[in-house]
Amino acid sequence: MFWPRLQLLEIGDQPWCPSWLHQHEQLSLTKLWNLQVPFWSHGSLATQACKIFKEHLPNVSSYTVLDICAGSGGPTPVLESELNGELEAKGKAPIQFILSDLDPHVEEWERISKKQQNISYIETPVDARAVPRMGKKKECRIFNICFHHFNDEDATGILKSAIQSADSFIIFEVTTRDVGTCICSPLVFFWACFVTLVWFWNSPVHIFFTFILPVAPLGIWIDGFISCLRTRTNEEVRSLLDETGLDLSKWTFYSGTRTVQWPLLSLNYYVGVKYQSND
Ligand SMILES: C[S@@+](CC[C@H](N)C(=O)[O-])C[C@H]1O[C@@H](n2cnc3c(N)ncnc32)[C@H](O)[C@@H]1O
Repeated sequence: MFWPRLQLLEIGDQPWCPSWLHQHEQLSLTKLWNLQVPFWSHGSLATQACKIFKEHLPNVSSYTVLDICAGSGGPTPVLESELNGELEAKGKAPIQFILSDLDPHVEEWERISKKQQNISYIETPVDARAVPRMGKKKECRIFNICFHHFNDEDATGILKSAIQSADSFIIFEVTTRDVGTCICSPLVFFWACFVTLVWFWNSPVHIFFTFILPVAPLGIWIDGFISCLRTRTNEEVRSLLDETGLDLSKWTFYSGTRTVQWPLLSLNYYVGVKYQSND
């Protein structure tokens, strides 16, 4: 059941949003990507994302993957270890991953790239609306739980740039604009409390603003709910692609949904791949 998309504002996108809250939101999402509940989960959101890469990107080792609104890394560390683990076993070149964001989480990215050498990052802010081409290898741009942040004009520009300058793109969303997802959205309040307990237990600011004054859980709930109202259907993404006015005849598009924790968590994807004669 769908209603018109509403381009409301999220707290995490506001310039006045304190950095501790923004980083709490980013880390909560990264941990959600990796959540696996025994006897319930079909892998995690991140392992489902790996499957989508393997199913739809031909010759996956020929790509550099640019994570455009990377936050705290989202699924990228898992994508790197799973995809490159398989490529290494086959004697193929590893994929290089690059993290970027308008608000770079450098401390976290440094920690990731020290552990995983095929992941690097851009230290300075990169606006998704003006992304340069990275290097000579084929480029795949990934938009993890972020495409809904952009209004139609910006989103069309982002897709236009991907079609003109990159070789593939993948949009992943975990929210949908439907009644069930909106009703379940308050559950992220409890997820935010859990994240504070486990990963911010030594931060007095996070403890105070979670358990005394619940700003962090409320902020994440509000942003999660607004995300539901802003998420596009696959048909809406397709019509933005048509809006670009570009020749899409060399591109193939795939979309779908993977259930991770029924009925609460699913991964929606929209993939575009440019045809290359050597694939
Ligand atoms: C909901 S978070 C998703 C983070 C991460 N991709 C994940 O899945 O865990 C959205 C991210 O988009 C970033 N962002 C918002 N507007 C942006 C823009 N114009 N350009 C680049 N990044 C942007 C925010 O800083 C934030 O890290």
